[in-house]
Amino acid sequence: MPRIVLITGANSGIGFQTAKLLASAPDDFSVILTGRDLAKVEAAREEITRATGKQSDSVVALQLDVTTQASIDKAVALVRETFGRLDVLINNAGIAPTGPNLEEMFRTTFDTNVIGPALVSAAFRSLLLASENPWHLYVGSETSSLSYITDPASPMYQTNAGSVAYRASKAALNMVAMHEQLETKEEKLNVRILCPGFVVSNLRGSSEEARTGWGGAGDPENSARLILSIIRGERDADADKLISVDGFHTW
Ligand SMILES: NC(=O)c1ccc[n+]([C@@H]2O[C@H](COP(=O)([O-])OP(=O)(O)OC[C@H]3O[C@@H](n4cnc5c(N)ncnc54)[C@H](OP(=O)(O)O)[C@@H]3O)[C@@H](O)[C@H]2O)c1
Repeated sequence: MPRIVLITGANSGIGFQTAKLLASAPDDFSVILTGRDLAKVEAAREEITRATGKQSDSVVALQLDVTTQASIDKAVALVRETFGRLDVLINNAGIAPTGPNLEEMFRTTFDTNVIGPALVSAAFRSLLLASENPWHLYVGSETSSLSYITDPASPMYQTNAGSVAYRASKAALNMVAMHEQLETKEEKLNVRILCPGFVVSNLRGSSEEARTGWGGAGDPENSARLILSIIRGERDADADKLISVDGFHTW
């Protein structure tokens, strides 16, 4: 029986690479790609089915805007109707806007990076609990670490334009995730937070310079491999940590 995996923000970057890796992995996954723009998600699904030769019914595209409850509810209803359960939820969608308007930057960032994942989490909880072996992964960031921002020896002991809203949102996301882990400790739900590393994506903007982090960003396939290793149970020793490719980050 395939494991049913749903990824938010799966049309680009880390979400897309994860969907592609899972679709081609020898494990039996059915992958539900979601995103706020259905045309982009459909295009991503087509690219994956073409590249992997997977049947189109095991790689599915759904519209899901994490900032809109009606959109979340519709996706939940479709997953319930089609699969009756969810085995892996990857709360990946995120943004890192910059701009002169502090209020707008904070509200937009928290809406997508904190409130969105919390709503998605609540809406899919019963479908996850209908699984024999449910997993819920939150895509966090080492930039959320309070230890790093207070340690002069850390590369995170610095600020730059726009980083405050993003970093604060990822710190808040850590609490959403750890709260869920505690809340469900009597259940079988495996809740994890991972730090995908600094990788090529649209997070910093769509120009080549921004996508590649001005040449410094790594391959998002490494982030996808980290996600695969976590849902295979290979990182269970780090369940209450910020899991990274190399080990873990301190809170
Ligand atoms: N790349 C890095 O270096 C890095 C490092 C640490 C953590 N992360 C985290 O990794 C996750 C994935 O980001 P990425 O780097 O892969 O960036 P990305 O290429 O920009 O991907 C983000 C995805 O989220 C989607 N999204 C944005 N707002 C949404 C909403 N309201 N509803 C549903 N989907 C929405 C985007 O859709 P659109 O195409 O429609 O905008 C896109 O598919 C984020 O949580 C990010 O914070 C990334």
